[in-house]
Amino acid sequence: MGADRVDARAAELAAALVRDELRGLPAYHVAYPDRITTKLDANELPFPLPPELAAELARDLAAVELNRYPDAGHGELRAEIGSGLGVAPETLVCGNGSDEIIGLLINCFARPRPGRTRAKVAYPVPSFAVFGGAALAAGCEKVEIPLEEDFTLDGERLERALAEAQPNIVFFARPNNPTGTLWPARQAAAVARAHPDMLVVSDEAYAAFAGDSMIGMTAELPNLLVMQTLSKTGLAGLRIGYVHGAPALLAEVDKVRMPYNIGALNQRAALWILRHCRPLLAERCAQVVRERGRLAAAMAGMPALRAFPSEANLILFRVGDPGDGRATRVWQALCRRGVLVRLFDHPGPLAGCLRVTIGSAEENDRFLSALADALAA
Ligand SMILES: Cc1ncc(COP(=O)(O)O)c(C=O)c1O
Repeated sequence: MGADRVDARAAELAAALVRDELRGLPAYHVAYPDRITTKLDANELPFPLPPELAAELARDLAAVELNRYPDAGHGELRAEIGSGLGVAPETLVCGNGSDEIIGLLINCFARPRPGRTRAKVAYPVPSFAVFGGAALAAGCEKVEIPLEEDFTLDGERLERALAEAQPNIVFFARPNNPTGTLWPARQAAAVARAHPDMLVVSDEAYAAFAGDSMIGMTAELPNLLVMQTLSKTGLAGLRIGYVHGAPALLAEVDKVRMPYNIGALNQRAALWILRHCRPLLAERCAQVVRERGRLAAAMAGMPALRAFPSEANLILFRVGDPGDGRATRVWQALCRRGVLVRLFDHPGPLAGCLRVTIGSAEENDRFLSALADALAA
């Protein structure tokens, strides 16, 4: 069979076999234009490990036996993460990034309620795109609860939506991505109390920049799960996230987790860094919080720009009016100056919006001066 024929046959097969709910779903692609020198698009921490620590880490990693499978249950890693959080290892499950954890939770707790053919997964919008994608991929129905114009979460609207939809799971990204809003813990806890038959997930990927976590509330709320990640605190390349909650729930989650979901090098590197560098990572997050204040103050003085308050390592801002294309032109102008931020200029609540990740002081200076030029053009 020629290559064209093979391609055509494969496309027929995909059309015949792929699940209906996946047909309209885009894959997650990350645009990376040429000549970018200031990368502020992915909510990463801007600082790599100092060279002397990186060299020590490399020596430690050399001892890993790559011919062996990794620890399937991440025992040492869970103990180390647990000791930092003050929780028992049995109350943690680790994933290949918290992206994987989102998928595991949805896959695991997707039993349709009586009389329904599909389970529902709820989350406010706009929020992290993976909630919706993972729900569809698992054959669940999405329940999207619109935020207010300033991206706060209206309690009555939320309650009406949950009472009507009766989802199996509701996700709250606290702080939220891409808006940076921190919806109060008491709001999520009130949902957990009002709906004991629903799982409430506090996705705390950005907790290090907000100083706020619901970890201490799982002891009294059996339906509360708290997700966190090492990604935003300087270790995005390791892909390590975790969920904390009642062991009875997590034992089920462990059944859908692939046995060797985190590679041996990643587990060992995370362990070494957590054991040796916690104060360094914490100081760097504090530095990002200080820079966030400086950036927000500078942006507040810029014409035709509205920056939204943020408790994460990012600032969402709107330029011009929704639909006038200005945000896209500003994004292009920033790219020409080597600065990459995330563009959200499509119809909907984020029209006209861009999101900048807080970088190092030098990166933030480059961003501010490129933004001032772009807005003046
Ligand atoms: C709200 C939220 N949750 C989870 C994640 C996933 O993080 P990771 O898979 O890197 O742990 C992100 C990443 O941007 C996020 O913004």
